[in-house]
Amino acid sequence: MVEGVVIREGQTDLIVPAQHSSGGPGKIYDDVFFNEQMAFNRDVSVMLLRAIGREMKVADCMAATGSRSVRIANEVPGTDVVANDINPAAIAYMEENIRLNGVSNCRPNRENLQVLLGKETFDYVDLDPFGSPIPFLHSAIQGCRRGAILAVTATDTAPLAGAHSGKCVRRYCATPLRGYSCHESGLRILMGAVARDLAKFDMGMEPILSFYADHYFRTYVRVRKGAGAADKTLAQLIHVALDPNTLQRSVSQVHDAEHKYGPMWGGKLFDREIISKMDATGMADEKRCRKMLELWSQELDEVPFMYDVSEFSSHLKISSPKYETLMELLNTEGLSTRTHISPTGFKSVLSVDDIKRIFIQASETR
Ligand SMILES: C[S@@+](CC[C@H](N)C(=O)[O-])C[C@H]1O[C@@H](n2cnc3c(N)ncnc32)[C@H](O)[C@@H]1O
Repeated sequence: MVEGVVIREGQTDLIVPAQHSSGGPGKIYDDVFFNEQMAFNRDVSVMLLRAIGREMKVADCMAATGSRSVRIANEVPGTDVVANDINPAAIAYMEENIRLNGVSNCRPNRENLQVLLGKETFDYVDLDPFGSPIPFLHSAIQGCRRGAILAVTATDTAPLAGAHSGKCVRRYCATPLRGYSCHESGLRILMGAVARDLAKFDMGMEPILSFYADHYFRTYVRVRKGAGAADKTLAQLIHVALDPNTLQRSVSQVHDAEHKYGPMWGGKLFDREIISKMDATGMADEKRCRKMLELWSQELDEVPFMYDVSEFSSHLKISSPKYETLMELLNTEGLSTRTHISPTGFKSVLSVDDIKRIFIQASETR
């Protein structure tokens, strides 16, 4: 028996340590980690696996209380889940959560994930570490079956978003961007690192869903085997130049003095067909899930990089227009969308000079 509190998340009851995190990157209070704010992150896994809609063998490699594992086993039909954690104290929570929900398709496992993924393969492999996933990526890739989904969280936001540039270079072998696009760049650096590690094994990837939320980055990619898939994936890596004097962003496949940021993923973030099948009904944070599904389904995701309203107002030294007015005017000339990354951010196919002209026009429209 474990001592803890029972909470309800989605359609699942979970026993978790009485003292646990409720936001931010979280910390361990009571032997085993649990962060209530990550309910949304777990909601996304449930929605996505339901949308895939086929039988799947799942490895929740860093399961802690087994919250994600038991939610998947309980809420996604056709799953067979291994809830794994290296921490012996986690196993009692997993067992209790399996019992509490009466699920027979979830097995607790206490191993270093490197051992588990060295001997078994899966259709879905989930990495949810404290900080960077980099030390675990090779093992996760080894544990992927043909066509598997690899899901990776990174909570080391400061290096990826450029606050600790040196650390990002060391961990991800990539130079991060600072400024208004730093979170899109952080997400794309994480995806680029996954792409490059896959390529080492003659594998490629197709993004399903990649996002920034709260204090973390998360990417779900479908793994494709073969040298051709690896080459196709590597061809989508980019280097970026950003001119703070003009706000001009430019992208190149070649690293040079100007295009010094990266390498990072330059392709799509979303598979719209799968996102269109994701349903927020019954999720723990249904309202947020609906809002994010709507944002992900409309965001221009092949156009690095996002802009921010404040970026243009401080650059042009004029006050910001109403967001809706700006978007309406931008869209009369070229496709422009919101971005899930920031409520004041936007994406556009228009040139920076066109955006500046329209921005001035919008700020004069009161
Ligand atoms: C952030 S917590 C996971 C939270 C969990 N996924 C959830 O949604 O509540 C990270 C977990 O990874 C586990 N861990 C760290 N290194 C590991 C390894 N090499 N193999 C397996 N588990 C590991 C830790 O014990 C910890 O429980």
